[in-house]
Amino acid sequence: MIPDHIIDQVRDSADIVGIISESVPLKRTGSDWRGACPFHGGKGRNFAVIPKKQMFYCYVCHEAGDVFSYCMKRFGMDYPTAVRDVARRVGIAVPEEKASTGPDPNEPLLGAVSAAHEFYMARLADGRDAETARQYLAGRGFDQAAIERHQFGFSPSTRDLLDHLEKLGISQDSAIVAGLAVRRDDDSVGLRFRGRLIIPIHDLRGRVVAFGGRILGDGEPKYLNSPETPIFHKGRTLYNIHAAKQEIRKAEEAVLVEGYFDVLALVDAGIGNVVAPLGTALTPEQAGLLRRFTGRVTVLYDSDAPGLRSTFRAADELLRQSVQVRVATMPQGDDPDTMVRKGGAAAVAEVLHDAQDVLERKIHLLAERGWFEDLEHRRKALDRLLPTVRAASDPITRDLYLARVSERTAVSVEVLRGELRLQASRNEPQAGSAPAARAPSGDRVRDVNAAEAQMIQLLMIEPGWRARAREEHDPALFESGTLREIFVAFAPTGEAGDQIPGGLSHAAQLAWSELRERAESLAGANHDAMYESLSQMLKSGPEWHEIEELTDKVEQQRRRQDFRRRYPLAFDARYLKSRMSRR
Ligand code: GTP
Ligand code: MN
Repeated sequence: MIPDHIIDQVRDSADIVGIISESVPLKRTGSDWRGACPFHGGKGRNFAVIPKKQMFYCYVCHEAGDVFSYCMKRFGMDYPTAVRDVARRVGIAVPEEKASTGPDPNEPLLGAVSAAHEFYMARLADGRDAETARQYLAGRGFDQAAIERHQFGFSPSTRDLLDHLEKLGISQDSAIVAGLAVRRDDDSVGLRFRGRLIIPIHDLRGRVVAFGGRILGDGEPKYLNSPETPIFHKGRTLYNIHAAKQEIRKAEEAVLVEGYFDVLALVDAGIGNVVAPLGTALTPEQAGLLRRFTGRVTVLYDSDAPGLRSTFRAADELLRQSVQVRVATMPQGDDPDTMVRKGGAAAVAEVLHDAQDVLERKIHLLAERGWFEDLEHRRKALDRLLPTVRAASDPITRDLYLARVSERTAVSVEVLRGELRLQASRNEPQAGSAPAARAPSGDRVRDVNAAEAQMIQLLMIEPGWRARAREEHDPALFESGTLREIFVAFAPTGEAGDQIPGGLSHAAQLAWSELRERAESLAGANHDAMYESLSQMLKSGPEWHEIEELTDKVEQQRRRQDFRRRYPLAFDARYLKSRMSRR
């Protein structure tokens, strides 16, 4: 909580006209300032900024508020972020939120990214070397107001950014950890983004945390994004979610598109409830993030074959989060960006309006191919439809889907249900069971969570190793209580692996039989190599967690390298895991 007297002080010192005019061109009329309203997208000067009252007001859509609500509504910042952002401009120090935990360890990184963003924007505005970038944007239909609205930038090929950051007292290490610079093999430091159009990527709170860099003209890669950093996790972020979240709540629906420019085109066409993944297939985390704001999503991806594949994959992720999914269909060869350009907002509105439920869309496509006409094809059609039914975690949706598939294929709902159950038991462990151990490929463990289960399984089929394993590993190393229980209960003398040790809890008994059933899949693996890497995995847990808690990034890097030397078989899996799960 920021103290009220500081909030008041920031509001009073803020130049509301100056701040708003950075993103809305304003002209003075009497004591007020007027411009086109950015909220309802009008053309007339109905939007008033009233410095005397420290307020803004639109006479048409009636959006109103102070400088903080402007930042919130306009840039999707949350309240504390808006206050801090304005405070930074007026030079008022705001105490950290939780004094007890010390300053946010990511503050230097946020500062570095924010400083780089300002540098990139300034360069685009007046850099001589940014002429191609300005022409590129003009060619894509962005005028000055739109460029400012979207806060585009340009990253020069020269090292000016590094000098600029240094002058601001931002260390090279921060720049590297923030993903702005890279350390080369010869230890020199280079730029990540060179000669690219810069598109800012915000976190949910509206803070710039990363960039997308588009090449100007042709070349590879077309887009270069910031790497994963402590403040940016590609798979957990959606492009534009910070600005879209209110719109999504208002519309009770979100639109999912494929790319940056698709988002920007729709936003400029007045469709604000739009987000995109960041160049990869929609992840479960991204689907979950969207679910926080709405239970209805329309997927608007390219309508060609790869586009449809991504569409259905994204749809399944959303269905698993109990989101209702509709699929919008564009003319072949178009994307939302080109559609807006050709047909304006109306063209997109029509396509969105005509969107079909994802299951209907699948049925429609299969029917077009004549797959419901003969038995053989119907069987294949079922194989395409059932995954979507199974993905639907909302019971009502699933029932409706079952009924619809049954109607279309003339297979009874009971039989379809049976088939779904069969598939489920083939592919997934039952809910509440122990983590399933995958057969390891090679001698490295790929999955941290599976390591404990794999160790148990290995000891099931190599009972002679139990004594040694017990000697070498403190049971406390097992993070799963159930698996720890089994590990402790293993008879150290090594009786046959099939017998459940006595005295196990119900949960441990269940886990035992699950794991035992799958243990044969390890039969072909190199057991010695497996033991070694699983052992490293177990032993290294506490130290790894300690390293991950470090706030000093440089020290952390050093410790990780040391860790890697001592636990070479565990490092990759642990590193990957913590990258994926860090917030
Ligand atoms: P424009 O050509 O600029 O209109 O982009 P687009 O959005 O039409 O591009 P496309 O459909 O090729 O890509 C969709 C999204 O995938 C982009 O917005 C990026 O997020 C991502 N993407 C495309 N190409 C690359 C690439 O080469 N590297 C990475 N990392 N991401 C890419
Ligand atoms: Mn495009």
